[in-house]
Amino acid sequence: MIRRLAPSVLNADLAQLADQVRLVEDAADWIHLDVMDGHFVPNLTFGPPVVAALRPHTGHYLDCHLMVEDPEALLPALAEGGANGVSMHVEPLDDPGRALDAAADLGLDAGLAVKPGTPLDTVLPFLDRLDLVLTMTVEPGFGGQAFDDGVLPKIAAARRAIAASGREVALQVDGGVNAATVPRCLQAGADTFVVGTGIFHADDPAAAAKAFRELIAGGAG
Ligand code: DX5
Ligand code: ZN
Repeated sequence: MIRRLAPSVLNADLAQLADQVRLVEDAADWIHLDVMDGHFVPNLTFGPPVVAALRPHTGHYLDCHLMVEDPEALLPALAEGGANGVSMHVEPLDDPGRALDAAADLGLDAGLAVKPGTPLDTVLPFLDRLDLVLTMTVEPGFGGQAFDDGVLPKIAAARRAIAASGREVALQVDGGVNAATVPRCLQAGADTFVVGTGIFHADDPAAAAKAFRELIAGGAG
């Protein structure tokens, strides 16, 4: 199983976005970009123009977490701007299959995300066309929140379903991922780790990212 570290720039210094990304590039596999619309979540961040602006500054995979009411509307601009993958929250989608097909048609890796209280059953019917399942371990919207241990059984169930499918589907955790919670996520079967404040609020983000990379690579899962 491939394990990946995806630093989230949500709580980085966004006025220096390219420099902040550069700090963590050696340790990062993906760069996680939190697109929020102020409706699906109470916070408002950035959209396709910022993703496009970052694109020339890094060769890394741009993993876009779409916390918006209408993710399908953003897909063409994200693809045009150089995004690599999108995770769309299943909660506002009236037709997740159509949204996944739209992403794939644009050449984007396609994922579905679930809030802590959203059952896994909402995404399992689409496993045959998913590249990623994101099980949120906090309520989406803000960095720096405490990890919700109640999500661990859902992560384990997702791992079992992915294994049974025989497909390569990334299983991502996002929210409150830190040195204490990474081992629990590995144990449950997560392979892709979003870390925001644990890296960008550290005194030395580059060193923190390296430490997370080692922790993730070395842990039993
Ligand atoms: C929150 C975002 C996260 C956020 C995680 O809704 O989706 O990606 O940056 O931040 P931490 O790691 O601080 O919980
Ligand atoms: Zn995120």
